[in-house]
Amino acid sequence: MRTAICPGSFDPVTLGHLDIINRSRKVFDKTIVAVLVNPEKHTMFTVDERIGLLKRCTEGMEDVEVVGFEGLLADYARQRGVTAIVKGLRALSDFEYEFQQALTNKKLNPELETMFLTTSAENMFLSSSIVKQIASFGGDISNFVPECILEDIKARISEGGK
Ligand code: PNS
Repeated sequence: MRTAICPGSFDPVTLGHLDIINRSRKVFDKTIVAVLVNPEKHTMFTVDERIGLLKRCTEGMEDVEVVGFEGLLADYARQRGVTAIVKGLRALSDFEYEFQQALTNKKLNPELETMFLTTSAENMFLSSSIVKQIASFGGDISNFVPECILEDIKARISEGGK
């Protein structure tokens, strides 16, 4: 079975993430959406909350598994017996950082290949940070995140979360 890991912070999941997950599903039999557990990073949603939101957005997708992972992605992939990472590449500005990560992961785990999927044109500018910024100023984020998590973001903002 061909399996890919689609890693990220997903704080919160955006339509851009969902697009990449859905396109990974066209290429791989199974897509593991792996949420980084990083206690040092300030996030709007806890890891468990982010996993919950992702599970809700991917409900009914039998070929998608949502998990949390700690430590190195290269180690986690080895542990799961997975040799492919799928990531979305937006503008050229993403490239250097993603290239560095891909090469580092390859050094750490030579079996691991990173595949970049070109982000759809409508998601070129989209990121979780932008979504949080718009939401924090009361802007409309309905074109940027899955409808089923809209209220969770609004609620977190009204609680003062960023
Ligand atoms: O959504 P993000 O924050 O851009 O995702 C980044 C992520 C989680 C893919 C990346 O930070 C990661 O893989 N972290 C795990 C630690 C690791 O393996 N670091 C070495 C690769 S540079």
